Amino acid sequence: MVKKVAVIGAGVSGLAAIKACLEEGLEPTCFEKSCDIGGLWRFTDEVEDKRASIYSSLVTNVSKEIMCFSDFPMPDDFPNYLPNRKYFEYIKLYAKNFNLTKHIQFKTTVCRIEKHPDFPVTGQWNVTTESGCEKKTETFDAVLVCTGQHVDAQIPLDSFPGIKNFKGKVLHSREYKKPVGYDDKRVLVVGMGNSGVDISTELCTIASQVYLTTREGVWVLPRLGKDGYPYDLFFLRRINSWIENIVPPAVYRWMLKHYLNSRFNHELYNIQPEGIKWKEPLVNDEIASRVLSGSIILKSGVTKFTETDAHFSDGSIVHDLDVVILCTGFGYSFPFLDDSIFKRDENRGNLYKKIIPLGIEKPTIAFIAFLLPIGPIMVVAELQCRWATRVFKGLHKLPNVMGMKEEMLKDEKLRKRWFATSENNFRRINYITYMEDMASEIGVKPNILKLFLTDPVLAFKLVFGTFNSYHFRLNGPAKWDGAREAILTQWDRIEKPLRTRVPKKNSKSPLSLFILLFFFFAILFVAVWMKN
Ligand SMILES: Cc1cc2nc3c(=O)[nH]c(=O)nc-3n(C[C@H](O)[C@H](O)[C@H](O)COP(=O)(O)OP(=O)(O)OC[C@H]3O[C@@H](n4cnc5c(N)ncnc54)[C@H](O)[C@@H]3O)c2cc1C
Ligand SMILES: *[C@@H]1O[C@H](CO)[C@@H](O)[C@H](O)[C@H]1NC(C)=O
Ligand SMILES: *[C@@H]1O[C@H](CO)[C@@H](O)[C@H](O)[C@H]1NC(C)=O
Repeated sequence: MVKKVAVIGAGVSGLAAIKACLEEGLEPTCFEKSCDIGGLWRFTDEVEDKRASIYSSLVTNVSKEIMCFSDFPMPDDFPNYLPNRKYFEYIKLYAKNFNLTKHIQFKTTVCRIEKHPDFPVTGQWNVTTESGCEKKTETFDAVLVCTGQHVDAQIPLDSFPGIKNFKGKVLHSREYKKPVGYDDKRVLVVGMGNSGVDISTELCTIASQVYLTTREGVWVLPRLGKDGYPYDLFFLRRINSWIENIVPPAVYRWMLKHYLNSRFNHELYNIQPEGIKWKEPLVNDEIASRVLSGSIILKSGVTKFTETDAHFSDGSIVHDLDVVILCTGFGYSFPFLDDSIFKRDENRGNLYKKIIPLGIEKPTIAFIAFLLPIGPIMVVAELQCRWATRVFKGLHKLPNVMGMKEEMLKDEKLRKRWFATSENNFRRINYITYMEDMASEIGVKPNILKLFLTDPVLAFKLVFGTFNSYHFRLNGPAKWDGAREAILTQWDRIEKPLRTRVPKKNSKSPLSLFILLFFFFAILFVAVWMKN
């Protein structure tokens, strides 16, 4: 019987893991290397070794009604996209509300996880931790690995010949904190991901010139959507996912392309991703206007550096650079695990459901949040934890290795259909499809057909409204009584933070009401008249 569970890391995934254990009646013990919860979202001025690091101006790229945990809506006065400190505040509220912190041992690093001698029978693990100079080994029935995937700087040095000779300052986005010390500097930002574009748009107001390079181009999504509502509220909907699953991929990509180009034409700015690739989008409202005003100049991929210059693949050269910021992504590793238990392999992908190591005798170790959704990671992590804890307890049986492999092959086919690329992106998932799949396996997926008969208002919201995590607390294990209410009242929480200014008069003029009434009676009159 599984009882004692070790949770490694107390970031958002670790907290969701503790909560899921408690819901399933398990006893979690969480080990956190640093002195507080929050992981990546706890901003510090210093970069800590082996903990994700963010810049001061970071704002979430998913809006609050989509990004919150499934049974804990964000306070209604919180802004829709949260500055990192505000999101950290939410994480604190979450931990406090469910009393999660008492299960965490801070300043305790997990340095080794090994199979217990009885593993083939019991599935138990020996977990060795280090706290100060004290080393301790304890036995656990299961392990949830929540150590994060944006931890180390990933710097492909071979792709930047000559960078060693560059005389100016070179840093990775992980080390970038604030726009201080860049006045009148000539800055080259390498890599057009979320960080690269955020840092460029921030620095271009003080630097003398910012150059931003991208090898392959990228899609840019805004935060500001229709009528000023958060953009993703319209983008992430079940109905869109259904359409995506029925129409041929080429047609869908064509539709998507036109939709994404409606704000600004990516081809005009020469950043449209090449070929049929569906590349991970980034979220930024400013980039196009900064390029329009020339404070950011877009370049193609860098081929080499000299002491002061950068050369690009189109043959052009930028001279006299002062700073190079490498926004080339992040890496992660599991130094506490032996290769025989799990070896990271991004190309082949050897995690069943992106969670359980393929071929392990007992499914008592789970990797949480090692994937790339175009959606909120914490929400996926939460559902993964709910799934994993039920697998630990034997309430959800997994197929045998052959079955797993077959399923993973099918998933790969689907992934290629959606993303049309093959290399290095086993972690890429289709957010809504993945969530629905996990939810149906543990019996928390809403039965929409049935709801159309019993609760049509709710069913309508589930299909045509925003896809939020509350959907998976409506029924099944660990359901939440407030879920339906949360779904029906989400627009209040979205609009509340916009009502900080109270207009003097009611803005709805009586005239418009009058016009409406006029039309109503006019139509009525015509209808009656035609009938006669
Ligand atoms: C710049 C940036 C912006 C992002 N913005 C968004 C966003 O807007 N929306 C979104 O959904 N996602 C975003 N992400 C992704 C981000 O990874 C997730 O939001 C989320 O923070 C992942 O949480 P986690 O708990 O899995 O990992 P982390 O937050 O990295 O937490 C891992 C924790 O594990 C601890 N730990 C690690 N190793 C050990 C060990 N051996 N022993 C004990 N403790 C250990 C660490 O100290 C840390 O506290 C962003 C990422 C980056 C880099
Ligand atoms: C694991 O811990 C148990 C005691 O809890 C001990 O008997 C065993 O030798 C340990 N195994 C390993 C491989 O460390
Ligand atoms: C938000 O940013 C993270 C980190 O850069 C990224 O992995 C994720 O895909 C982004 N989300 C969206 C919806 O763009």
